[in-house]
Amino acid sequence: MSTTTATREQWSGPLGFILAAAGSAVGLGNIWKFPYIVGENGGGAFVIVYLLCIAVIGAPVMMCEFALGRHTQRNPVGAFKALSPKSSILAHLVGLGVLLSGIFLLLFRCWGWGALLIGLGLLIIRHGWVLVGVMGVVAGFTILAFYSVVAGWTLGYVWKAISGQLAFTEVAAAKTHFGHFIQNPAWALGCHFTFMLLCVLIVYRGITAGIERWSKILMPLLVLIILALIIRSLTLPNAMVGVRFYLTPDFSKINTDSVLIALGQAFFSLSLGMGAMMTYGSYLDRKANLFTSTLSVVGLDTLIALIAGLAIFPAVFAQGFNPDAGPGLVFQVLPTVFNQIPLGAFWAFLFFVLLLIAALTSGISLLEVATAYFVDERGWPRRRAVVVVGGAIFILGSLCAISVSDWARLEWIHTGLVQIFGTTKASFFDTIDNLSSNWFLPLGGLFISLFTGWIWGTKYALDEIRHGSSNFGDVHLISLIAGLKDDPSHNASVHVVTLASLWGIFIRFISPVAVLIAFLHTIGWLG
Ligand code: PFF
Repeated sequence: MSTTTATREQWSGPLGFILAAAGSAVGLGNIWKFPYIVGENGGGAFVIVYLLCIAVIGAPVMMCEFALGRHTQRNPVGAFKALSPKSSILAHLVGLGVLLSGIFLLLFRCWGWGALLIGLGLLIIRHGWVLVGVMGVVAGFTILAFYSVVAGWTLGYVWKAISGQLAFTEVAAAKTHFGHFIQNPAWALGCHFTFMLLCVLIVYRGITAGIERWSKILMPLLVLIILALIIRSLTLPNAMVGVRFYLTPDFSKINTDSVLIALGQAFFSLSLGMGAMMTYGSYLDRKANLFTSTLSVVGLDTLIALIAGLAIFPAVFAQGFNPDAGPGLVFQVLPTVFNQIPLGAFWAFLFFVLLLIAALTSGISLLEVATAYFVDERGWPRRRAVVVVGGAIFILGSLCAISVSDWARLEWIHTGLVQIFGTTKASFFDTIDNLSSNWFLPLGGLFISLFTGWIWGTKYALDEIRHGSSNFGDVHLISLIAGLKDDPSHNASVHVVTLASLWGIFIRFISPVAVLIAFLHTIGWLG
C-alpha cells in the first residue's frame, strides 16, 4: 500500500502536464512509422480511418487512463488495487479459461505454453484486475528495452551527422554503413547505454524538476525543428510529388488490414494500454480539466504525426529516391537524400536531433511507469527505483541490441526458448517488440476500457472527470455544437446526448469490441 500518497508530487500546472503527456505520445511512432504507413496504406484515405480510430477509441481510452490515475493517485498496479472489487466474476472466468487452455495444451505435450498458461490462469484467478496494472508495468520494461536501442541508433546518427560520416552518394552505401553500425556491439550498446542514462537522469529529478522541466524545453524545440524541416523539404524542386504520394486518398487500399493497422498505431502512438497516461494522470490535481487535456494531447500527437510526413516525403521524392519502410527510410534513405541538398549535414543533424527528442520524452514516460510502481507499492525512494529499473531495462535492451539481426549472438537463449516453446521465428529484438506492441498494449487497452465501463463504472469515472470539466458531463452535445450551450433550456436534465454519454457508450461497448477484434486479428486467430 502506498506510503507516499500524502507527499505525492504534482505537475506545476496544466501546461506542464499537457506537454509531458504529449511528449510521451509524440515519439518514434509518429516520425518514423506513421508517415510511412500512411504512404503505403492509401494516403489521405488512411488518415481518415486513423482519425476515426483516434476519436472513437484513442481519446475515450486516454480519458479513462487519466481518470483512473488522478482518482487513485497511484501507479497502474496501485490504481487497479484501489478500485478492484474483492472478487470479480469476469476475472475468474478469464482466469479459468486461460487455465483450462493451459491444461488442454499439456495434453498435446506443448509443455512450455501449457505451463505458462496454467501459471497465468492461476495468477488471474488470484489477483484479478490488478494483473492489468502489472502487465502495464512489465510493458514499460519491455517497450523501453527495444525503444531505447532504436533511440540509441538515433543518438549515434546525431554524432555521425556532426562528424560528417553520413555523406553517402547512394542508398546501398548507407545500408552497408547502417548494417555495420548496428552490428557493432560497442556502438550499439554504448548508444543504448547513453540514451538510458539520459532517461534515468531526467526521471531521477522527479516530476516537476525532471519530467516537466525537460518536457517544457524539449517539446517546443521539437515543434521548431519539425517546422524548419518541413519548410526545407517543401521548398525543394519537385516536392509536390512527395506530398501527392503521402496524401492523395486511395480508398481502394482501405481494407480490414489497414483499419487494424490504424487502430494498433493509434494505441502505440497515444501511449495507451500500459498505464503511462494513468501514471502521468496520478500527478494531477482535481482542478485540471481532463477533457480538454485529452483533446490537447491527442491533437498534438496527431498533428505532429501528420506533419512529419511533410518533412520526409517531399525531400525523398524531390531527390528521386523511393521511400523505404521504418529503419530503412530513416537511417538509410534519408541520410542519402540530405547529402544531396545544400548544407545536407546540418539538415541530417537536425532530423536526428528531432528523432532523439521525440524518443527521449517518450522514454522517460516509459521509465516513470515502473519507477512509480516501486515508489508507491514497495516504498522505495525514487532515486533507488529509477537507478534499479533503468539498470534492469538496460540489460534487457542490451539483449535486444545484440540480437537485432538474428539469434547468432544469443544462441543460449534461443536454444532454451526452442526447447520450451517449440519454435521461435523472430530475433529477440522482434520478439520483445511484437510481445509489447501487439499483445500488451491492445490487451491493456481492452481491459482498461472494460474495467472503467463495467467494474469501476462510467458513473464513478465521470464523477472524477467532472472535477475541473463540468461541461463534459453536463452539456447537451447538440447544443454545444450549435453554440447554444449557455442557453438554460438546452441544459435541462432530460435524457439528452452529452459528451459524457457518448464517451460511456464508446468505453463500454465500442472500444472493447474493436480492440478485441483487432487483437484477435493481429495474433492470427481471426481472418
Ligand atoms: N507513443 C510513443 C511513440 O509513438 O513512439 C511510444 C510509447 C511511449 C508507447 C510510451 C507507450 C508508452 F507508454
